[in-house]
Amino acid sequence: MTVQMAVVPVAGRGTRLLPLAKSQPKEMLPVGRKPVVQYVVEELARCGVSRLLFVTGPGKTAIENHFDIDAELIAHLRETGKEELLEELAFERADIEYFYTRQRRQLGLGHAVLCAKAVVGREPFVVALGDSMIGLHAQSRVVRVMIDQFEETGADAVVALEEVPLEDVVRYGIAVPRDGAAEVFELADLIEKPAMGEVPSTLAVAARYVFSPRIFDCLARTAPGKNGEIQLTDAIRMLIQQGRKVLGVRLSAEQRRFDIGNFQSYFEAFVDFALADPQCGRALREHLREWLAATEEAPPCS
Ligand code: G1P
Repeated sequence: MTVQMAVVPVAGRGTRLLPLAKSQPKEMLPVGRKPVVQYVVEELARCGVSRLLFVTGPGKTAIENHFDIDAELIAHLRETGKEELLEELAFERADIEYFYTRQRRQLGLGHAVLCAKAVVGREPFVVALGDSMIGLHAQSRVVRVMIDQFEETGADAVVALEEVPLEDVVRYGIAVPRDGAAEVFELADLIEKPAMGEVPSTLAVAARYVFSPRIFDCLARTAPGKNGEIQLTDAIRMLIQQGRKVLGVRLSAEQRRFDIGNFQSYFEAFVDFALADPQCGRALREHLREWLAATEEAPPCS
């Protein structure tokens, strides 16, 4: 049976994006023409996911509303002769069944995934973090590659990994390869947000995972770790310690991860997506070029 289920944790408060994310979910922030979470769902649909469980929390109902079929809006567009805009709502009809559950206490990413257990049951599943897009306009098929690896090798976990600058390793789960790091390789260990002195590599966990249901047994036994939270990384580590196979799949350059978890990366993602917009990209590029040239002499922020 191929992997059809994805769990998308969206319960995090987005405190690094205040005041922007105070009363709207960070996953609903616009990047170019779409909210972040729509790119995530479209990426998963292209990779074969047909059932999707959001693990939500307080203040996240806008996400549920976004994926509803809005009959009133459709009727309004028809009545007012704006049929051409119906295409913008085509995503509502994607061949996906949506499920929602709540993380009722903020105990960390591992705990959020554990909240999915009753709905997922004993089948394999994808985890895709709702605040990270892979590839420009989310065109990446890395999740498909990960599912294929999972099925071919009998691994219990496959994680996406990306090369990050040395100074950034303290922000990520960091992989320890077993024998060298090819495109796909086996992990000997994973360390959540290592201190600078104990950096085993610069390969960071990149927001996409495929798991067998064994991960739930590990999560249930995982004690709070970094920042007092139940860490998904620690549960994967437990799988490795049990002798289970855990693989890493490296993101290629064109599959780079866009994360909106802080303002710097959010601004960069917005600019990159807007510059690649088929209708507005060219004009925006021109505008930026002129603006940068004009402000080189008199910087507006000084
Ligand atoms: C989480 C994971 C971390 C991973 C990161 C990006 O961290 O705990 O291992 O590298 O997502 O996918 P967070 O961004 O929630 O601090």
